Amino acid sequence: MTEAWWKEAVVYQIYPRSFMDSNGDGIGDLKGIISRLDYLKDLGVDVIWLSPIFSSPNDDNGYDISDYRGIMDDFGTMEDFDLLLAQMHARGLKLMMDLVVNHTSDEHAWFRAACEDPSSPYRDYYFFRDGKEGQLPNNWASHFGFSAWEKEPSGDQYFLHLYTKKQPDLNWDNPKVRAEVYSIMQFWADKGIDGFRMDVINYISKVPSLPAMSGEGFQLPTPYIANGPHVHEYLQEMNQRVLSKGDYMTVGEMVSVTTDQAKLYTHEDRRELNMVFTFEHMYIDAVGEDKWNIRPWQLTELKDVFTHWQTALEEGCWNSLYLNNHDQARMVSRFGNDKEYRVQSAKMLATFLHTLQGTPYIYQGEELGMTNIHFDSIDKYRDIDTLNHYKEAVEVFHQDPADVMKAIAYKGRDNARTPMQWDTTVNAGFTTAAPWLSVNPNHVEINAAQEIDDPQSVYHYYKRLIELRKQCKVMVYGTYELLEREHPQIYAYTREYQGAHLLVLLNFSGEDACITLSDELSSLPKTLLISNYASPACAALHPYEAQVWHWNT
Ligand code: GLC
Ligand code: CA
Repeated sequence: MTEAWWKEAVVYQIYPRSFMDSNGDGIGDLKGIISRLDYLKDLGVDVIWLSPIFSSPNDDNGYDISDYRGIMDDFGTMEDFDLLLAQMHARGLKLMMDLVVNHTSDEHAWFRAACEDPSSPYRDYYFFRDGKEGQLPNNWASHFGFSAWEKEPSGDQYFLHLYTKKQPDLNWDNPKVRAEVYSIMQFWADKGIDGFRMDVINYISKVPSLPAMSGEGFQLPTPYIANGPHVHEYLQEMNQRVLSKGDYMTVGEMVSVTTDQAKLYTHEDRRELNMVFTFEHMYIDAVGEDKWNIRPWQLTELKDVFTHWQTALEEGCWNSLYLNNHDQARMVSRFGNDKEYRVQSAKMLATFLHTLQGTPYIYQGEELGMTNIHFDSIDKYRDIDTLNHYKEAVEVFHQDPADVMKAIAYKGRDNARTPMQWDTTVNAGFTTAAPWLSVNPNHVEINAAQEIDDPQSVYHYYKRLIELRKQCKVMVYGTYELLEREHPQIYAYTREYQGAHLLVLLNFSGEDACITLSDELSSLPKTLLISNYASPACAALHPYEAQVWHWNT
């Protein structure tokens, strides 16, 4: 096992729009982040991943970039950025930036030039295609509903957008596009940043003929866009040109990636990326890959997915560990219990993420046990994915609006995007103005100020876990072995590294639960490393109890 700082690090994701507003316009900003750096330092995290802060018309909250070297007006200026980075480094915090280069904004200068003049060299930066017999070029669906093709503003061709129609896809087969991307990366690398989180990076190499999908209606073209023919070549080129010149941490967001593919992306000998964000565990409560088609999830399936990734990537590769982010529902609402066992289950899930092999990612507010928002009307949502889905489901598929609202309340991305809950004051201390997205009214019970004062809080539990991970290498590097796969309530596993051992017992249910350990495991003299209940009895667990036992051989 090769040791590395980015394997031992704990990452904290900030969604800048919702983190802290410094100037009273209702939108979080860079100065707001600077004012909360001490909070993050106290929590103990090592790396901050900032969701995009670049110039953007905000059709998809910054994931539609119009200038990769500029700062979004809402968020501040380049001086603010330079100060933020300096203030982070002064505290020993590292910065990971979001690299969104599968697509640009339609307001990016390249796309404008491509539309204004069909003979412009920028035309080939994107995918422009003729329609077929007065129809769209093919039946590809966008991730955010409807077709993936849009007619260009003036002219007769269509352009490809796998996300919103304001996010045209870049043509990575054009070497000029790749050179532009590397030069953007170098610009931020020269500023001294420490890593890149790469947005849907396994979509950058499409099957050039863009073949139609079989089947009726719009279809997500996964087989022709995910893990395409040149993706490894391009990532190796990127690594050679930029990443290999410094000590950067990299994580690629990858829709539809198997463990075999993930090994190719992350194996240390291949020099591509450090790790990937897989989605496999995000689909255990969906029918197929249709996230809005919800089914109940089973603990055994969660165990199978994690066990598969833990073991497949053990040799020479590395996992990222997450249960929520800006695109997913709040983990305590989805995988725990956000009512009577909110505190216990938030701590139990945290124990899970921090005792697996891989690098844990905490999403802002997770360390407080923040919960889903249940807006009663579609007008209160802001997320383009949610709004498009509602429109398509109700208007095109004639689904019952009440059912659609239920699915949105469970899975919608705004669940994670309501403003950070700092204190009990109006707007949770996030802003003095009307926030761009409503604050969750439960901020009077769930907020940072109170949790900092309460040694039993979710916040203090995270602090302890992060500290422990720094003291016990077995938490980071240990091998993983699943126990009792069939147990319907308890997820149990052991870890081992250089003679240090862990036994992790997690009750994923709201009822008491027991597990029968082997004679060897139960008779071993072991010490309790951490638990979310006082004086736990090994292997007899209260609702959502977590126990981590430690011993040496
Ligand atoms: C990624 C981002 C998501 C965004 C999409 C398009 O999945 O995490 O927020 O909408 O890519 O950029
Ligand atoms: Ca602001």
